[in-house]
Order: sequence, then structure tokens, then C-alpha cells
Amino acid sequence: MSDKKTLRSRAWFARQDKMGFYYRSWLKNRGFPQDQFDGRPVIGICNTWSELTPCNSHFRTIAEHVRWGILDAGGFPLEFPVMSLGETMLRPTAMLYRNLASMDVEESIRANPLDGVVLLMGCDKTTPALLMGAASVDIPTIGISGGPMLRGIHCGKAIGSGTNTISMSEQLRSGQITLEEFYDAEASMHRSHGHCMTMGTASTMACMVEALGVGMPGNAAIPAVDARRNLLAREAGRRIVEMVKQDIVLSQIMTRKAFENAIRVNAGIGGSTNAVVHLIAMARRIGVELNLDDWDHLGRGVHCLVDIMPSGRFLMEDFFEAGGLPVVIRELAQQGLIHKDAMTVNGRTIWENNEEALCWKPEVIHSFEDPFKADAGISVLRGNLAPDGAIIKPSAASPHLLKHTGRAVVFESIEDLHARINDDDLDIDETCVMVLKYCGPKGYPGMAEVGNMPLPPKILKRGITDMIRISDARMSGTAYGTVVLHTAPEAAAGGPLALVQNGDLITLDVEARSLHLHVDQVELDRRRAVWQPPKPHAERGYVKLYLDHVLQANEGADLDFLVGKSGAAVPRDNH
Ligand code: FES
Repeated sequence: MSDKKTLRSRAWFARQDKMGFYYRSWLKNRGFPQDQFDGRPVIGICNTWSELTPCNSHFRTIAEHVRWGILDAGGFPLEFPVMSLGETMLRPTAMLYRNLASMDVEESIRANPLDGVVLLMGCDKTTPALLMGAASVDIPTIGISGGPMLRGIHCGKAIGSGTNTISMSEQLRSGQITLEEFYDAEASMHRSHGHCMTMGTASTMACMVEALGVGMPGNAAIPAVDARRNLLAREAGRRIVEMVKQDIVLSQIMTRKAFENAIRVNAGIGGSTNAVVHLIAMARRIGVELNLDDWDHLGRGVHCLVDIMPSGRFLMEDFFEAGGLPVVIRELAQQGLIHKDAMTVNGRTIWENNEEALCWKPEVIHSFEDPFKADAGISVLRGNLAPDGAIIKPSAASPHLLKHTGRAVVFESIEDLHARINDDDLDIDETCVMVLKYCGPKGYPGMAEVGNMPLPPKILKRGITDMIRISDARMSGTAYGTVVLHTAPEAAAGGPLALVQNGDLITLDVEARSLHLHVDQVELDRRRAVWQPPKPHAERGYVKLYLDHVLQANEGADLDFLVGKSGAAVPRDNH
């Protein structure tokens, strides 16, 4: 049994007064006998199950396996819900609510008699939201990802979440497939529990959980419906009780070394650009210095090893069968690209967890010597169009566009884009640079995943599938193309993006890490003098709070007053 003085829950359950009566009695009505309050660790199971978050629809089952694990180890499990963020349902974008959900998680953990917590996370934003919230409390914590769906199969071919949704919607727009074929693909693509099975944001963040050491080994790739996902959950339930007894808190796991490992793993898997904004936000919560430039310099020279959509051919089920993330971590560590001594939640170092990983399918997970794509880190661009930075994922881009100067075709909003993009009279060709404004944190609001703008049908019909696109938006991790994202400051905050006009020349030079608008400063000053900020999207409620306090993308798009942590001190009594 643990030292009872170290357990937060003793402030509730060890009392022999009126309040102790309250705290115990209302749990006894659920069938918990007196001996459950004897000083055993109380473990929260933080559940993002929701029918409105289809990717997390199996979490009640996972929670039961965690519960059994906690009981196995002599802990006292108590499951609780937090705000769930369904990527496919929430409007205007789930990202608007990531910070709100993180507040729910933080306050729920701190205000309750919890000594440790297991976070159940799946769909894109639930992972960063839960880790950000838990980081601001900093008690013993294990993250469990829900696991990817089985591979989509349509007309005998593998199809991937998002990636093929995008390509098929382009095919529908250009008349290459019928509406019936489009409908038919919907049920074929998502045919099991789990999150998107491409290396989109959910899979990327599941890999980040494992690379950070916050998840158990193997967390990232086990399919949602594979029995080994349940075994992992039970092991995690057992382990969190031990972590409480050993007093291993999240800040001992989420260290600077762990974040550096995660950034390199992101390059090694060809991970989502969304990881940039989420990891910066998570690091700033736990007190680790991490910025945009870390992404650029740490990712340089790191090759993508995994041939997986959106950049490649395979899906997460294939990745799992090939050996999963442990193989990637082992390969990178053998190149000196991983801090081998970074500690993980199972009590072993990341190297001890992965040094014996075996690759069963080298066509899916390549070796570092024969990578799938060379030098796949995320590049950070700067210049007069992005003074505080913008990012691009070169491994998802077209090589011939990585250095290019083109004429800007400007869309003042996403509505403007939708209104004009299908117009055959739109003055655009494939050498142009598409510019989309007012889609950043304040502008949308919530920084929507609209940065990979659809191409004009008249260009698609000619077989051209990529153009340079620049915005202050994000991009789905399942998307691809030569897409410059997260331009900061955003247009709605008065960034130079707001000043771009049709016909301006823009140069993208990824090798030089440069994004330049060929307009002289006098003209930019003239444009700024007449620029009007957009009207705020809300005058009340959470959205107003968000608009008043959200930080720019390069700072993680967190709310300014949420950066940092308030710790795990037990709040004062409620009577
Ligand atoms: Fe949930 Fe893609 S929609 S992970």
C-alpha cells in the first residue's frame, strides 16, 4: 500500500467527520464498500466516449479493460466524462473547442479525489485536449489511444480516411465518378470502430503519445478492434496504480527530451502538420520550452520511413502488421536521433521499450538507409509574408513546386473560395499561388482545416493535381499537396497575409525556408492604412473568451491564460 499522505484522495476519503460521510456515502450507493476507502490509489478514467465522436464510440469497452487493470493492481477506478470533440461533426471546427475541452479535463482532475488518471483519446482533438488539461495538473498519467479503424476497402482497393475522401470528391467534381459510387464508398471506407486509419492527425497524435512516452509501447498502431488494444488497456490500468505508488508524474515523462523524440518521430512517420500546433501547446502547459524553430532544426535530416497515406500507399493496419511505431523508434534511435534515456510510463526508457522491435514488412516500414522519403521533417518558412512563421510538409508536396514564384489568386474568406472556385472564368492557371485569408485561430474562428483548398475544376480536368496554396488555416493530416499553413500572424490579427492582393507575386522557396511577397514596404504600408479588421464572430460565451485570448499558431493556439500549470494541490473544502 502506498504512503497515504502522498495521495490526494485522502483529503476526501480519510476524513471521519461530516464531509467524510458525504464523500464516502455517495459512492457507497454505487456499491463501493468501506474497504475501497482504505488508502488505495484512486484512478480516474477520463473518457471521451460520445455518439457524436464516432472515432471514440468503443471507449466504453476500453474503459472497462482499464477498470479491470486498476482493480487487478489494487486501485480504485472511477470513470468520468469530459467534453468530447468529434472531428466530423463539430462546426465550425473541432479545433475551436480543443482549449475548452482541455479546461474541462484540467478542472475535472483537480477538483476530484484522483491520485492518477488514464486518458482515453482517439479522434484528432481529444488527444491534445486531454494531454494539455492533464499537463496543467501534473499527476501520474497514462494516455491510451483508441486505435485506428481497419483499412477501408472499396472495389477491391484500399481506401483511406480523408485522403480518399478528398481525392474522390475531386473526382466527383470533375465528373470522373458518379454520385452512386461516391455514396457507396462511404460505408466501405469506415467499416469498424476506431479513428482515421491514414497517418492523419489522430494516428499522428497516437504516435506522439507513444513517442512522448505517455502511452504504453505499441499504443499507436494496434487497430481499435484488435484484442491487443484491450490487453494494452488492461496493462495500462495496472501500471497507473504502480505509477501513483512510485509518484511518477506527467512532467517526469513529458520532458524536453521526450518532445524532441516526438518531433523526430513525426518526421519518421510523415506525420500531420497539426502535431506542430498541438505539441507546442502541450509543451507550454507542462513547462517545456518548445517553439516553431525546434520543429525545423530537429526534423532536418530525418527521413520518413513509413509508406502510408496520405503520402504513401498503406494504412495503419498495415503499419501495425509491419511492427508499428516501435520499429520506427528503433531505426531512428540507431541513427542517434532519439534520446534513448527518455523515461516512459511503463517505467522503462524508450530505448528499452523498442530496442528489440522487428520489422515484418519492409515495404511498409523502410530502413533509415533506404527510406520511403528522404528528409521529411516539417519545414518552417519565414519572410515578409510570415514574420512569425508558417509551415509546410515537403513530404506531402510536389517537388517541382518547392521553389516557385507565382501570381497570387486571393480568396478573402472560405465562402469567397467556395463561391468562385468552380467558375470556369476564374483567372487562374497552375502556375498561380492560391491565397486564402481569415481562416486562422481568430479568423475562422478556430483555425479550420481548409488550407488544402480544392483546385479549380478546369485545372483538375487537365490532370493537374497540385498547386501552391497559402493560408493561415490548418490542413487535415489526411491531406496532401504543396500547402503552406499556419501563417502567422494570421490575417484577422493584422498579419501581412491580410494585405495580399490579386496579381501580387509570391515566392515559395522551401530550401531557403522563405516565403516572400514581392510588394514593397511603401505599398504594404498604404494597404495597411486602409485595412479594417473583421467583425468579431461573437459577443458572448466561450467563443468571445476564445477570441479575446487565443494565441497565434506559432504559440500553439492555446488561450493565453491557460499556458502553464496550476498543479495538483487539493482545492479547499466545499462546505
Ligand atoms: Fe476522428 Fe478522423 S474523424 S480521427
